[in-house]
Amino acid sequence: MADLLSLFPVVSALDADGTVVVGGCRADALGEEFGTPVLVVAEAALRARAREYAGELSARWSNSRVVFASKAFPCTAVQRVMVEEGLGLDVAGGGEILTALKAGVDPGQIVHHGNAKNDEEIAMAVDHGIGLVVVDNSDDVDRLEATVPEGRTQDVLVRIIPGVTANTHAHVLTGHTGSKFGLSPDQAAPLIKRIENSRQLRMQGVHVHVGSQILDVEPFAESVAPVARLGEFPVYDLGGGLGARYTWADSPPAVGAYLDALIGAAKQHLPAEAQVIIEPGRSMVCESAMTIYRVTTVKRGAVTFVAVDGGMGDNLEVALFEQRFEAGIVGRFDGPDPELVTVVGRHCESGDVLVDGIALSAPAVDDLLAVPATGAYCFTMANNYNGNRRIPVAFARDGHARLVVRRETWADLSARDVD
Ligand SMILES: Cc1ncc(COP(=O)(O)O)c(C=O)c1O
Repeated sequence: MADLLSLFPVVSALDADGTVVVGGCRADALGEEFGTPVLVVAEAALRARAREYAGELSARWSNSRVVFASKAFPCTAVQRVMVEEGLGLDVAGGGEILTALKAGVDPGQIVHHGNAKNDEEIAMAVDHGIGLVVVDNSDDVDRLEATVPEGRTQDVLVRIIPGVTANTHAHVLTGHTGSKFGLSPDQAAPLIKRIENSRQLRMQGVHVHVGSQILDVEPFAESVAPVARLGEFPVYDLGGGLGARYTWADSPPAVGAYLDALIGAAKQHLPAEAQVIIEPGRSMVCESAMTIYRVTTVKRGAVTFVAVDGGMGDNLEVALFEQRFEAGIVGRFDGPDPELVTVVGRHCESGDVLVDGIALSAPAVDDLLAVPATGAYCFTMANNYNGNRRIPVAFARDGHARLVVRRETWADLSARDVD
């Protein structure tokens, strides 16, 4: 358990009584102020990561941009931090365009993705002057040509399937042959020609993204040559995908090591004057946050279940791709009487597990449980299953905490009912 603290945001510590302190705020005080469950973001850690990415990329390729993949944590306050740190935003769909704009991003710094963009989203992208629309298929081109007004042009990238199979869960793999995202180089070549001849579209370059939670650097490097073969363009967007550290067994490459490999390949294959974009999501936000739950039941039997007041309504990562998390009882990370338990949520599914097999110190009803590394894809996939009210998000910084997203109310749950 000694390592548990190392999974919390970089600014975390243990108080004299053993309570974890994140962003200068004690977990018990955060639970008291905002209720549980609550997702707490250490703002300084988030900003530090954004700066690390920007600094490490520009040191290796000066004509470059980091755009945060909003989908990993599309909360306006998080997007605003990224914008304040000088990053652009990658959005997937109309909703993320709107929160990105609310966060104050220059629309020209937005990269718009989607494998099934509809007319409305294409119109939103064009109307708001989104910088780059990433074309996934020829229907995107039909829609864009039907939407961009006479006398205007829309800059586009074309998403390429590089045929690279990274070592990650199949559900978050995207660069393999047969992926639903993008086009094979053979399919892309005629579409690129078509765009180059279009009056309304400007062919700016190509895009590639091999998948998510990737813990080795080779797949990133391997993805560059297949896109380089399609020709010379002003822009190459090399996607995101770097893995994060959820558990002490994980040792994801440092940002610098990842970029050594990726930009090393770029230097080998891409035109020196081109702009390189990267789109980190998970690795940008994952380790900057934790979720605090309250234990509601401890049931000892063949398996000891510690049930908490959240679960798959606020963290779908376990059910979606079997992500392992760690956890500790607040105040007793290293406490006495460790017991091997399974931490489960309050939802009506046996798959509603938060941590399958973990030693917790004498877990009891009303204890607080802290789960680190919940910054990526938890907020965004939160849901109302079993009438769950989606949980709040608080930022902690220098000993002060502020609510940035409130908890859903009971009234919110029926707010869309029209009958
Ligand atoms: C096109 C694109 N770019 C970037 C990302 C971010 O990936 P990650 O969160 O793994 O960094 C994704 C996520 O799947 C994506 O689909």
